[in-house]
Amino acid sequence: SRWLYDARGSRLFEWITRLPEYDLARNEFAILSGHLDAIVAPLAGARCTVVDLGAGDGHKTRVLLEALRARCPAVVYAPLDLSRAALDAAARRARREVPGVEVRPVLSDWGRGLRVLPAEDGAKLVLFLGSSIGNLEHPEALALLHTIRGALRRGDHALVGFDLVKPVEDLRRAYDDAEGVTRAFNLNLLARANRELGANFDLAAWDHVATWDPGRPAMESWLESRCSQEVRIAGRVFAFAPAERIHTEISCKYDEPRIEELRRGAGFDAAGLFLDGGRRFADALWRAGEGAA
Ligand code: AVJ
Repeated sequence: SRWLYDARGSRLFEWITRLPEYDLARNEFAILSGHLDAIVAPLAGARCTVVDLGAGDGHKTRVLLEALRARCPAVVYAPLDLSRAALDAAARRARREVPGVEVRPVLSDWGRGLRVLPAEDGAKLVLFLGSSIGNLEHPEALALLHTIRGALRRGDHALVGFDLVKPVEDLRRAYDDAEGVTRAFNLNLLARANRELGANFDLAAWDHVATWDPGRPAMESWLESRCSQEVRIAGRVFAFAPAERIHTEISCKYDEPRIEELRRGAGFDAAGLFLDGGRRFADALWRAGEGAA
């Protein structure tokens, strides 16, 4: 799913976060604004570095950085993103909206970015918001949280956003919206393959399909072939039957026991679990404790 985020994909995702059907970003924003004091309290008084993994949404970061700027002698903001365009936008926005915070952007994926991140002085807060973690299967999510834990010292924190299990009809609408923005977001993968891999996908020959897998549990996104067709990709030819699907994304949904399992598995102590009023999203605040990761 990382390939969804070229410049156009990142723009389409920003648009998705404003759709009436897709409430993740709004719910998380409500949580962060509503519980701001409790969330930033552990960092108050310290020089701190905020590492933002997949620095998508500016509003959420802004409220956190403003709160930290008011409570900390020095604040460094290190957004980390795969998309140059998204990273530049996040850095520009932070410099404009939260002056006084030093901005140090890192163009990288999550794992590598954490390893190259210099051993900053002061307290670290790693942000992994928006349920980005939902794109990872359980073992990979655990491995990434472990990497995050390994990049932290005792007393540092991570704030991780989890979209919660909710009525299936709400989820279906969120991942197949009426305006077709999610459809365009998914199909953009094919346009990108055409451009970057010399593929010849006919975008009109593919449908966007979103399904619910209660076992995982997760929403799953697919591109479904509308007909029998052959596609050339980087010099190879692939045949697709009618209704054959390409699996493009999982968006895992969580409950409190599963969140706790990930926390313990990654070697963090619990420092707070914050939910919105409708209990549709959760932000977990975790502390790197005494023990090794
Ligand atoms: C950015 C991974 C949180 O899975 O909900 C939105 C991406 N995909 N609509 C999600 C997405 C389809 C989103 N995350």
